[in-house]
Amino acid sequence: PFQLERNYITFLIGGGGWADETCIHLIVDGQVARTATGPNTDSGGSERLSPLAWDVSKLKNRNATIEIVDNRKGGWGHINVDQIVQTDNRGSIAMATPPIAVEKNVSRQLAVKQKFLRFPMKIGAKARVLSIKVDGKQTHRLDMELADGTPDWWATVDMSQWVGKEISLSVDLLPKGSQAIDSIVQSDDLPKLDNLYAEPLRSQFHFSPKRGWQNDPNGLVFYRGEFHLFFQHNPYGWNWGNMHWGHATSPDLVHWVEHGDVLAPDDLGPMFSGSAVVDWENTSGFGKNNQPPLVLVYTAAGNPTTQCIAYSNDGRQFTKYEKNPVIQQISNGNRDPKVFWHQPSKSWCQVLYVELPGKKHSVHFFKSSNLKDWVKTSVTEGGIDGDKYLFECPDFFELPIDGDRKNSRWVLTAADSQYAIGTFDGERFRPENSRIADVRGRGFYAAQTFSDIPDGRRIQIGWIQAPSPGMPFNQLQSIPSELTLRTTPDGPRLYHTPVQELVKLRGGPNAAEALETFRSELIELRAEFEPAEGQSLSIQIRGATIVYDAAKQEIEVNGIRASAPLLHGKQQLTIYVDKTTLEIFASGGLTYFPLPFLAKPEDQSVRLEPRGGKVHFASLEVYPLRTSWTNAENVNRP
Ligand code: FRU
Repeated sequence: PFQLERNYITFLIGGGGWADETCIHLIVDGQVARTATGPNTDSGGSERLSPLAWDVSKLKNRNATIEIVDNRKGGWGHINVDQIVQTDNRGSIAMATPPIAVEKNVSRQLAVKQKFLRFPMKIGAKARVLSIKVDGKQTHRLDMELADGTPDWWATVDMSQWVGKEISLSVDLLPKGSQAIDSIVQSDDLPKLDNLYAEPLRSQFHFSPKRGWQNDPNGLVFYRGEFHLFFQHNPYGWNWGNMHWGHATSPDLVHWVEHGDVLAPDDLGPMFSGSAVVDWENTSGFGKNNQPPLVLVYTAAGNPTTQCIAYSNDGRQFTKYEKNPVIQQISNGNRDPKVFWHQPSKSWCQVLYVELPGKKHSVHFFKSSNLKDWVKTSVTEGGIDGDKYLFECPDFFELPIDGDRKNSRWVLTAADSQYAIGTFDGERFRPENSRIADVRGRGFYAAQTFSDIPDGRRIQIGWIQAPSPGMPFNQLQSIPSELTLRTTPDGPRLYHTPVQELVKLRGGPNAAEALETFRSELIELRAEFEPAEGQSLSIQIRGATIVYDAAKQEIEVNGIRASAPLLHGKQQLTIYVDKTTLEIFASGGLTYFPLPFLAKPEDQSVRLEPRGGKVHFASLEVYPLRTSWTNAENVNRP
């Protein structure tokens, strides 16, 4: 016991942020008179102690004790306290705010009368665990960024199979007074979304989901006249979590229509990344009416983590294979199956990322006659020099060098876009080099190429980690680019060329002759120029400054640099600017440079400034682009 003599008590505190469980109390007359916790409840964070103060002026001369409570297990289940001081001068030390009172396991019973349950969501709110039980059995366990007060948007859970049932909803923890669980409503229709595709930070010709988070593109395939884009989707938050496979289709790789999610988490775990193939010969037996089925191959990231398949006969309804999984766990870090048909050996092949002991990366190769029974054929652990190998989301395909079908190579790519080139006999990949870095810029990840494109083009889409702050959706997919292998002084290298279909986006003639008056939010710029040595060309576009430095043969955008060699003295640049991303193809496509970027709303002009002399333009094209969200199914405004 001690006497309170001054106006303040100050102290240092760190560790767990759990009220009553990891905290410091000031006890007066047997009651908690003041309290404070550490700052951490989520993984990550820091052990650092920070100063805080209690105002105890009203308790002067009373007897008190300090109680330090360490009564919690698990993450951040400890408290750090130091340097407890009585003082009249707290200086700039912040006052400890009373911890928010919380309630645990808040539940509500509900009779399901309509098809959908709608949940109130808050952009960036901390995820709470929401469970749904039907007849005492858990049907859903979702991490939801629930709104305690006014929601920013609504998330929907399809309950159609339980109409007529009594269900119980419960949330692990809510602040006292939270409206979240009472605000959950039922509806029979999917609501119209306000301002859909016209939101201020909605990219206009890059795919992003209507609502929620997305990451990797999955299952890229051409099936029954449509391009299919599946994607890692969190329908219940702005951040990663609850992995589903979202689904969109396009007739032309430019205009996408989003359908509902096709794979939802189940007893085997959340739905991680994977691929899709058309099973032309119906080797799987999933086909109907002599039509080839579409087969999805994905990771169920539970414990164990396994590889599974699902199929469709119409490209809309998907059924998980009843005997899943088709590949048992090899290590708990095995994921991202990419499947393809290997004509010379007439079998299905699969590349799978497998984390080996010691966090070592490897790619396992499998083959199969029916997409259900898989046999391991080889493991690739390193390039020719056994270097640290390629990491997650492998893709594997054959490309002719310089278009010569008699001289082709196999390319193995990874999530960070590093790749190896070599040969493949249907069972084993023999790399001819160590890893090559491909995509520059920032935030391009987990790219995949399409399967079954009729004209044989190898077209890639990748996830661009471009956030859209304040919007009820987050992250986007790159524009599709065609991959080719071309000879360079360093050996064969991948080139990226934006697909020709993007020409459809042009909303006016070439404005290169009248750049002073040109204004557009969405822009395509193509330039071929011959800079003399020592010259640079600066392009200012929507608040970004792109500089080509001929002396260094480098491109620089907002401080990020990449090598971009001249070809026969010429530089060839293609630039696409959307609302939250910028994509640059330099050196005719050898240097692909995507970048998250928030375009300045007021700056809609394009300015070209040669530095250090004149730049000779062999050609210059500047086009305003149109939105790609024009499909009737996308026009969804009240
Ligand atoms: C890559 C990745 C994959 C995994 C998926 C989960 O971004 O980590 O390896 O399958 O995301 O969302």
